[in-house]
Amino acid sequence: MADKAPISIAFRGVTKSYGELEVLRGIDLDVSQGEVLALLGPSGGGKSTLLRLVNGLEIRDGGDLRVLATDVPLGPPAGQPTDPWWTALRRRVGFVFQAFHLYPHKTALENVTLGPVTVDGRAPADARDQAVQLLERVGLAAKQDVYPRQLSGGQQQRVAIARALAMDPEILLFDEPTSALDPEMSAEVIDVMRDLAAQHSRTLVVVTHEFGFAREGADRVAFLEHGRILEVGSAAEVLEHPKHERTRAFFERVL
Ligand SMILES: Nc1ncnc2c1ncn2[C@@H]1O[C@H](COP(=O)(O)OP(=O)(O)O)[C@@H](O)[C@H]1O
Ligand SMILES: [Mg+2]
Repeated sequence: MADKAPISIAFRGVTKSYGELEVLRGIDLDVSQGEVLALLGPSGGGKSTLLRLVNGLEIRDGGDLRVLATDVPLGPPAGQPTDPWWTALRRRVGFVFQAFHLYPHKTALENVTLGPVTVDGRAPADARDQAVQLLERVGLAAKQDVYPRQLSGGQQQRVAIARALAMDPEILLFDEPTSALDPEMSAEVIDVMRDLAAQHSRTLVVVTHEFGFAREGADRVAFLEHGRILEVGSAAEVLEHPKHERTRAFFERVL
């Protein structure tokens, strides 16, 4: 990766609490354009919260956050999804959830065309052509007319990835995309993610417990625990030679 790549996401001293609970305790982190960052760490450490700040699903309490060269304001609260500034941000920052969140009464194809047509005002025929291509790309060409309940978890997650890609986001955030899947279905999803990662055409931040993906698919790995990033570096540095005792202990437990 070129050193000169612009910064896609910049956290400076970012904090976030839920009531008394300090979830992020001063996050400093830069993610470059086109970079693939794997975010690892124990459950409850603040990984989802960190991701959700980037597309305004949550609002930080303090510190500075720049996303795609714009300063993310400290409000309005995420409960106002129609505010145009946040809608514009979310068009550029896609999110893939652990639990897929597909529309149950829409087919795979309709799930993928909905955003481009309703949010972007794309012509339906145009959006459909693109959706067919995207479903093909995630290995689901034959499933375009079926409903989510007729798909396996791995297939649903691949539809969710196609849906996110349909908006052509500059940043794509993944929150444990394979945690709800058995190993075989995880592998199908990981294949799609490796393919995306290898392109470096958008910035990817992937919260995951898939160390294989982190090692081979990510440019850098960050380890987050108790609301702090304890280390960040190449996969080889962080996974094979962790500097921090806590990182080492975590990997020993899970690997
Ligand atoms: N909306 C919320 N309200 C209150 N507490 C929350 C909320 N979201 C997360 N938390 C708490 O914040 C901490 C960090 O959560 P999270 O960011 O989901 O961690 P991770 O994704 O690393 O497991 C946890 O203790 C969690 O229970
Ligand atoms: Mg989480």
